[in-house]
Amino acid sequence: MNNLVIAIDGPAGAGKSTIAKIIADKLNINYIDTGAMYRAVTLKCLQNKVNIENEDEVIELTKKTEIDFKDNNIYLDGKVVNEEIRTIEVTNNVSNVAKIKEVRCLMVDVQREIGTRNSVILDGRDIGSYVFPNADYKFFLIATPEERGARRYKELIAKGVEVKLQDVIDDIIKRDEIDSSREFAPLVKAEDAIEIDTTGKSIDDVVESVLNKIK
Ligand code: CDP
Ligand code: CDP
Repeated sequence: MNNLVIAIDGPAGAGKSTIAKIIADKLNINYIDTGAMYRAVTLKCLQNKVNIENEDEVIELTKKTEIDFKDNNIYLDGKVVNEEIRTIEVTNNVSNVAKIKEVRCLMVDVQREIGTRNSVILDGRDIGSYVFPNADYKFFLIATPEERGARRYKELIAKGVEVKLQDVIDDIIKRDEIDSSREFAPLVKAEDAIEIDTTGKSIDDVVESVLNKIK
């Protein structure tokens, strides 16, 4: 039987990773958080004090980087970095790393390799439009920037991070703009993706909408 590939794309805070994890569990398939890969490269750049404006330096470092997923952990050069990749510093720099074509190609090679070996659900920005244009199912999750910002704000406050709601919303809008306007493989809804507006919807509602489409 052929591997099943499910693509979940959309802007920041739309609920992609939450929904993708639940669907992966229910269908007993692998889950790949592709955003975590771009975050891991960004973390390595920051740790190595690489100037993110200097694309050649970022590319060189990325070539020497190993990213792996095992048992719900993300490994950067053999070390688990689940928490380190979620800092505000990484979040505020990741889109400038992810817009570099060569960085994307290196990450996409890994994503395609995993998707060719196993049945998988991937969440990101370009999965249905670029990484797996022939995915079996494509979903594009959206919600208002205010709701997406409020979701992220709640997570940060729960972690004890001091932030203002409006700053979180502004950062999300800024990141979406960079992600949507980059030249190579931008954030875009694939023509054949099913759009789900998650504004005001519970996680269970969204999971149900997705599962109803998967036969
Ligand atoms: O979880 P959140 O929505 O905050 O972001 P993420 O999924 O962790 O992705 C972080 C960043 O990685 C995005 O803002 C994009 O710049 C980049 N990304 C991408 O360019 N392509 C992907 N397939 C996934 C993420
Ligand atoms: O991966 P992405 O950036 O698209 O979003 P996420 O990290 O899955 O979701 C952001 C937050 O919104 C999480 O804390 C979810 O629990 C929450 N969420 C929600 O409240 N309602 C939904 N329908 C989906 C997610």
